Amino acid sequence: MTYPLQKKDTSILYVEDEELLRKNLISFLHRRFGVVYSAANGMEGLELFTKHLPDIVITDILMPVMDGLEMVKRIKQLQPDIPIIITTAFSDTQYLMQAISLKVDGYVTKPIDYNDLLDAINRIIHFLTSKTLEISYTESLKRIQRMLSGAIDALAYAIESRDPYTAGHQKRVARLAGAICVQMGCTEEEVRKIEIVGVIHDIGKISIPAEMLMKPYDLQDAEMSLLHNHCKVGFDILKNIEFPFPVAEIVYQHHERLDGSGYPRGLMKNDIIFEARIISVADVVESMYSHRPYRPSCGIDKAIEEILTHRETLYDAEVVDACAALFKRGYTLDAKI
Ligand SMILES: [Fe+2]
Ligand SMILES: [Fe+2]
Repeated sequence: MTYPLQKKDTSILYVEDEELLRKNLISFLHRRFGVVYSAANGMEGLELFTKHLPDIVITDILMPVMDGLEMVKRIKQLQPDIPIIITTAFSDTQYLMQAISLKVDGYVTKPIDYNDLLDAINRIIHFLTSKTLEISYTESLKRIQRMLSGAIDALAYAIESRDPYTAGHQKRVARLAGAICVQMGCTEEEVRKIEIVGVIHDIGKISIPAEMLMKPYDLQDAEMSLLHNHCKVGFDILKNIEFPFPVAEIVYQHHERLDGSGYPRGLMKNDIIFEARIISVADVVESMYSHRPYRPSCGIDKAIEEILTHRETLYDAEVVDACAALFKRGYTLDAKI
């Protein structure tokens, strides 16, 4: 197989004692790669390696002054992961076995077929490139996760410092929504996502006067519409933050119901995204279970009865079943958060 890589910025050290072979191969490599250093024996090769630290080493085995195997051994001590290609004759079997034990990366038999050598070099470049991409991808993913956690913490703190009741509610909803996800067999990443949305799903309540949220009696119509607006406000707060999943939209939809009776947009069935269906069930159960300024707790049995009664009409059937199964198994909303 011939690889179309041949990167111009790759530097190569080529060590070979046969002068004609060395000269021919150097001009072949020069046309394809950035820098090619050449040496006539292992000692010279080692010196050039220490001085220039090339990306790849290609070396013969049998050479005067210092043979290729000794040079490879010393180079590996300096840089254990340096890619090395050995050029060797079929008759050099015993040296070849020693080269294998030194964990070299490729072998090309003499007389050298230039395409074979090019393939061996390109395989190494291909490996090095994907390794670099993998490392930078993992690092940028970690950086995004750190930024994301920072943004979420800041938002959760903003509401907590002003309205401890809603902060506690959000944390319990996040924990319950995550547990529902686990019960449904979601992946670890999906569970983490739902927990992230859970802790900020009511962030829009930041626009509601704290006294109104703490009122010990039912809200007036005008106050009710202000309260209902918290989904849209939450969406507006979050929509410009670049999350790797639709956090703002889930927040926007967390009071929607399958039959269209929810708010603020009266979305129906499949228009409501899956994560919003989970948050809405966790939200209803936690809200009914908790004491509110205007009423005592309804108790967990009543909360579960509510979601079971409206299974498939208001709430996603699968989510309801998972939530009910959790509490049947002893899940509690009283755990310390
Ligand atoms: Fe809400
Ligand atoms: Fe809520």
